[in-house]
Amino acid sequence: MKITIYTLFPKMFDGFLTNSIIKRAISKKVVQIKIVNIRDYTKDKYGRVDTPPVSGGAGLIMKCQPIVDAIKNNNGYKILLSPRGKTFNEDKAKALAKKKEIALICGHYEGVDERVNKYVDELVSIGDYVLTGGEIASMAIADSVIRLLKGAITNTSLDNESFNDNLLEYPQYTEPYNYKGAKVPDVLYSGNHKVIDRYNRKMQLKLTKKYRPDLFRKIKLSKEDLRLLNEDEYTKLELAAIKKGKKYIPH
Ligand code: ADE
Repeated sequence: MKITIYTLFPKMFDGFLTNSIIKRAISKKVVQIKIVNIRDYTKDKYGRVDTPPVSGGAGLIMKCQPIVDAIKNNNGYKILLSPRGKTFNEDKAKALAKKKEIALICGHYEGVDERVNKYVDELVSIGDYVLTGGEIASMAIADSVIRLLKGAITNTSLDNESFNDNLLEYPQYTEPYNYKGAKVPDVLYSGNHKVIDRYNRKMQLKLTKKYRPDLFRKIKLSKEDLRLLNEDEYTKLELAAIKKGKKYIPH
């Protein structure tokens, strides 16, 4: 996949491109990332890329010409980062990860000339708050898309993570068993993967219900899910059976 990011602040991407999973994905050629400085495209004799709005008022607005000229030869799917856009989510990340090429265009200062909108495919926001520019938003989008690409991370890491099927991820633990009085749930030591999977599913359901009722309402609950949610006894009985070396068969 190719991602081109159009920005007035290319240096902001130095850390993003040279660390961790993104760096590895680039060196493994999972993704090719190009950072384009919009300023290089200005035809203004003073090199300006932004001017005050014609209506008057505070701030500087990014002009059409440098942006439109910068993106005009890009055949990818073009996204203008804007607080006015549709809110980004994991489904959108998955849809973008299927594209061969995307362009992320970062607005800055007080806004972008309205007429730029017709040169892009979509406006996207990363949330209902205003950033000083689209750079951080474009990194968030690029990051979430790149990690979905084949070869960026191990695929098993993607299977049970948050937002798959509108469920949050289940809690994970590391050694020691007892950290300042907070213990790892015993069931995770059972070695019985079926039981552990069921426990994890229950935790996903419970956590989603508690922290993201908006997502929870979208889940199509199976009979087993309802049982997991309603019967804490279920896991206790299973655990008791395991401890006695027996198999617990729910009915
Ligand atoms: N630019 C400024 N705020 C933004 C946001 N929330 N999402 C995307 N781009 C932005």
